[in-house]
Amino acid sequence: MKTQLKSTLMPLSLAIFFCGWLAINGFINVNQGGDKKWVAPDAEKNVKNPVKADDVNIPAGKTLYTKHCKSCHGTGGKGDGTKAAELETPCGDFTTDDTQKQTDGELHYKIKKGKDDMPSFEKKILADEDLWTLVNYMRTLKKK
Ligand code: HEC
Repeated sequence: MKTQLKSTLMPLSLAIFFCGWLAINGFINVNQGGDKKWVAPDAEKNVKNPVKADDVNIPAGKTLYTKHCKSCHGTGGKGDGTKAAELETPCGDFTTDDTQKQTDGELHYKIKKGKDDMPSFEKKILADEDLWTLVNYMRTLKKK
């Protein structure tokens, strides 16, 4: 009687254990790998940049970038800043098409809102104009 009970319970507990393992893995996938691409909402992508990138605006963008972004994204935007190694998510590489083919509106949205290790600058850099200025500066980091 005792052995019979054991032989029923063993496979059953194994099956339950396996289901739990599958569920946990599915959960991890959805929360990490599943949503890898960071995409801005369509409405934000289409917002036009109101700030002109000229000889005054680009140096202003550089000053803001050096102060707020360089520590993670690195001087040239390659994602090799001094803080980058401590982060859980890679910073990306602003010199690549991956970043450069995104619209101004999309980059503006990402700087404004942040995600994971990328801080939200909505409150830190108060003027919306400054966020667009940073987008303009990011365009100069494109690989030539
Ligand atoms: C504490 C480190 C840190 C700082 C400071 C920081 N970032 Fe980021 N940034 C990140 C990380 C990490 C990511 C990647 C986030 C992700 O994909 O989950 C990122 C992603 C981005 C992206 C999206 C890139 C893409 O290709 O989609 C933009 C744009 C960006 N950062 C701009 C900025 C700007 C501009 C500043 C300064 C105002 C800044 N970041 C400051 C860590 C940082």
